[in-house]
Amino acid sequence: LEQEILDQITSANTIETLENVRVSALGKKGQVSLMMRELGKMTPEEKKEFGPKLNALKNSLNDAIADRREALEDEILNQRLQSEKLDITLPSVPAEPGSIHPISQVIDEVTEIFTEMGFSVAEGPEIEEDFYNFTALNIPPEHPARQMHDTFYLPEDKDGNRKVLRTHTSPVQIRTMMNGKPPFRIIAPGRTYRCDSDATHTPMFHQVEALVVDKDINMGHLKWCIEEFCRKFFEVDNVKTRFRPSYFPFTEPSAEMDIGCAFMGDEIRIGEGDDWLEILGCGMVNPRVLENVGLDPNEYQGFAFGMGLDRIAMLKWGIPDLRDFFAADLRWLKHYGFAA
Ligand code: PHE
Repeated sequence: LEQEILDQITSANTIETLENVRVSALGKKGQVSLMMRELGKMTPEEKKEFGPKLNALKNSLNDAIADRREALEDEILNQRLQSEKLDITLPSVPAEPGSIHPISQVIDEVTEIFTEMGFSVAEGPEIEEDFYNFTALNIPPEHPARQMHDTFYLPEDKDGNRKVLRTHTSPVQIRTMMNGKPPFRIIAPGRTYRCDSDATHTPMFHQVEALVVDKDINMGHLKWCIEEFCRKFFEVDNVKTRFRPSYFPFTEPSAEMDIGCAFMGDEIRIGEGDDWLEILGCGMVNPRVLENVGLDPNEYQGFAFGMGLDRIAMLKWGIPDLRDFFAADLRWLKHYGFAA
């Protein structure tokens, strides 16, 4: 019997068959177990003879099964190692290298220039409350300036309030002044939205807001600050600039600034020709805005400007159509060296 079972064990070539052999020999109703039970009916002499023999049989079978099981498991592992082998010498599929979008490059560069001048960076939400985007900036609900903003409105909430996609970065002025104490010296770069699209307008665009509030701030500070920025950013000696009087409800007096350039077919050149591209609106913070945020206009004055980051990117790289920046056309990005 022993040899018979041992043969079954060696010829079992799966874990399952081996288990079946084990159950039929050593399981509760297995051949060996049944023989063990017979022991009870035997005479003491017989017990002395068969007891140890049966125990030895049981042990040797257990050992044989354990050995076989180990061998089978090794075999399975070896098969897996064979079939799951990776050839690490195969050449890899090259990954397309990513690159920083030109507008992100401009944001980084602008931030660097202004932080060197002592500004810190402030932030606000792109989905903005009407109060910060308009009312606190001295643009009350029926003010005609609201029409000029081509605002994207969100659906009314249950209280009848409509949030907006911020039409400019100026709401960050209000958030900054309401959350801190003067002096303020901040810039706020980010995305802005207006329902508008042509060669120099896209529905989503980028601005950087700047706000300085302190004692004895005047328009000379504003002008120097912007011109110093242009010198550093454009790295062109002969940047032509022009300030035009303008109107914003939140600044008084207000101005807009243009950069002299030439639109030439698919090229735009800075410091040449007699075209102008508007890049920013600016002015002295309206005393009413200071009052809205709880500051005394007799004690504090400020200047602010909001600059179109996409516009200065167009000028920097001579790209005449703003919409190309957001077309996600890899050929265009490669052509201008923005992607490898
Ligand atoms: N928020 C204005 C705009 O988007 C620009 C501006 C900013 C003007 C700050 C004055 C002061 O048109």
